[in-house]
Amino acid sequence: NFTPNAFVDEMVAELKEKLGNDKVVLGLSGGVDSTVAAVLLNKAIGQNLYCIFVNNGLLRKNEFQSVLDQYKGMGLNVKGVDAGDRFLGELAGISDPETKRKTIGRVFIEVFDDESHLLEDVKWLAQGTIYPDVIESVSVKGPSATIKSHHNVGGLPDYMKLKIVEPLRMLFKDEVRRVGATLGIDPELLGRHPFPGPGLSIRILGDITQEKVRILQDVDSVFIEGLKSWGLYDKVWQAGAILLPVNSVGVMGDERTYEKVVALRAVESTDGMTADWVHLPYDFLMKVSNDIINKVKGVNRVVYDISSKPPATIEWE
Ligand code: XMP
Repeated sequence: NFTPNAFVDEMVAELKEKLGNDKVVLGLSGGVDSTVAAVLLNKAIGQNLYCIFVNNGLLRKNEFQSVLDQYKGMGLNVKGVDAGDRFLGELAGISDPETKRKTIGRVFIEVFDDESHLLEDVKWLAQGTIYPDVIESVSVKGPSATIKSHHNVGGLPDYMKLKIVEPLRMLFKDEVRRVGATLGIDPELLGRHPFPGPGLSIRILGDITQEKVRILQDVDSVFIEGLKSWGLYDKVWQAGAILLPVNSVGVMGDERTYEKVVALRAVESTDGMTADWVHLPYDFLMKVSNDIINKVKGVNRVVYDISSKPPATIEWE
């Protein structure tokens, strides 16, 4: 029986003991896990915690600035690093999902390493890893030992020479949210859907370009804002849009169009390990589909994903 108050007290004491007066660096992602980890560490070691929030160019629309502002408002010691062009440059021409993840993981570590070298005497790297990340990355399910290489788990290059601290490693998502509430974090931030570390890159099937990112950010934003205004956002565990690598024929006025297809995905889940697609109301799907096609240039067709996990995964890549 999990009690968030007791967890916070014990973990803060443990972190104080373990970290003493050492400096710790932490990568914030804008998500629930890294935010809760940061606030917990901040409670334990205060300004010895240095947070870095990297824009990989694959975040949701306007997310970098709005989340950065929010962090500053929470009293966290945070630096925003806009590395979007660097990531998109390195990803150019890559279509394979695992290569995308590995590339993003590598560039993230490079950017992060550059930044942490600017700080003197850092001893620890803190991460918001939670229990499902740990098991999905190490479980052996047949010939390939990992399902997906979650970029935020596992080995760091030697040159970083930092010890790792992961205060949420034993918790499930709902427990992390309860800990966050105990810590006084804004319920809206805690209620945010999970979002993968590699961001929109694994929702753009095929290679990634600036233009495709722009299209997907716009589609995603119409979908997510729609869910919020219809009161559906909190009923869904995770939602997002996927840009498919196909064009389809459409008609606008008396012109034939040949444009992109997007898929919408919304799932119910408790931990991401299994998931059911959500029976979103037809009226909502109709409205959001019209809005997407009318507002987002380059898209002429919207489909809804009705696959559950397993055997499908939540993400398409
Ligand atoms: P799947 O697609 O495996 O997703 O059913 C389960 C949950 O994990 C998220 N996900 C990731 N998160 N790095 C992350 O940090 C990744 O590479 C990654 N791949 C999937 C996914 O969004 C869902 O919440």
